[in-house]
Amino acid sequence: MLIRVAPPAASVDLPSDITPQSAYLNRRQLIAHSVAAGVLGSGLNAAWAQATPAPTVAPGKLTPLTSKRSALENAVSNDVPTAYTYASTYNNFYEFGTDKAEPARNAHTLKTKPWTLEIEGMVKKPMQMGLEDAMKLAAMEERIYRMRCVEGWSMVIPWIGFSLSELIKHVEPTSNAKFVEFVTLADPKTMPFVGSRVLQWPYVEGLRMDEAMHPLTLLTFGMYGEILPNQNGAPIRLNVPWKYGFKNAKSIVKIRFTDKQPATAWNKAASHEYGFYSNVNPNVDHPRWSQSSERRIGEDGLFNKKRKTLMFNGYEAQVASLYSGMDLAKNF
Ligand code: MTE
Repeated sequence: MLIRVAPPAASVDLPSDITPQSAYLNRRQLIAHSVAAGVLGSGLNAAWAQATPAPTVAPGKLTPLTSKRSALENAVSNDVPTAYTYASTYNNFYEFGTDKAEPARNAHTLKTKPWTLEIEGMVKKPMQMGLEDAMKLAAMEERIYRMRCVEGWSMVIPWIGFSLSELIKHVEPTSNAKFVEFVTLADPKTMPFVGSRVLQWPYVEGLRMDEAMHPLTLLTFGMYGEILPNQNGAPIRLNVPWKYGFKNAKSIVKIRFTDKQPATAWNKAASHEYGFYSNVNPNVDHPRWSQSSERRIGEDGLFNKKRKTLMFNGYEAQVASLYSGMDLAKNF
């Protein structure tokens, strides 16, 4: 996260089967038309089909994951999704290297089957569940979310999952539970950079209970119509679209309910730079750079202006009330 590397060239080659773009778009349109989407939804689908650049590493390689289009995301984002090529080859996943090209190169060693998700702490029903059981807790939805990285770039990604609140309701937190901690896999045998001193392992993230219960907070199993590629946090990750990207813990193995604010990976590494809340906020600079604008990956180029970063990444209407009365410069 501390290192800036140029995004991959659009023609990057990966050792994968290349599916023609037409196949990808046909499948996308099929899903879109099979769902009774609202006016906004169908407008978005049409814009996407026309404007999405051809992915050079096309979906179609991984297991398809069917989903309904979410009414929720249609209300909050009409951006054009980033090409799959970029979303799957320009990643932060420090367990596989600090260079953004390394996760796509190295994460094939991640073993995602079998996968057990452990739920523990202040809940009435602590449990261990296999990934398949976790996937059955609620209907899969496709949600197109903006992702704003703290380093100043952004993407728009069609994720597949369901609101984390569905899982939380299932395990029944006690009234003492005030925070949720997400612990991710740290397996030095399959993750070559676990053990490096750049961060303390495992990578841990956390949310306040009301943030975790917010319908936008997505427990994610797939993207672009398929299960997650390893480098994007397979088989299960988080997406909290109004926060900087590093809150989106990848390859989660444990969800713990607690009465104490969790000590999170980047906060432990540099607390003056990365706070617990990490809400996208163009008015609060990072100590070393401005947060007022961003470069949308795929739009880079001499003549493309940077975009203005929006308060709460554009989700202000949905989430600002969670922070009413809080000083967001102190609680950054
Ligand atoms: N989760 C784990 N386990 N390890 C990481 O290094 N990096 C974070 C977050 N989740 C990270 C992680 C950061 S800094 C970002 S920006 C996002 O994952 C990137 O997610 P993406 O590759 O799907 O865009």
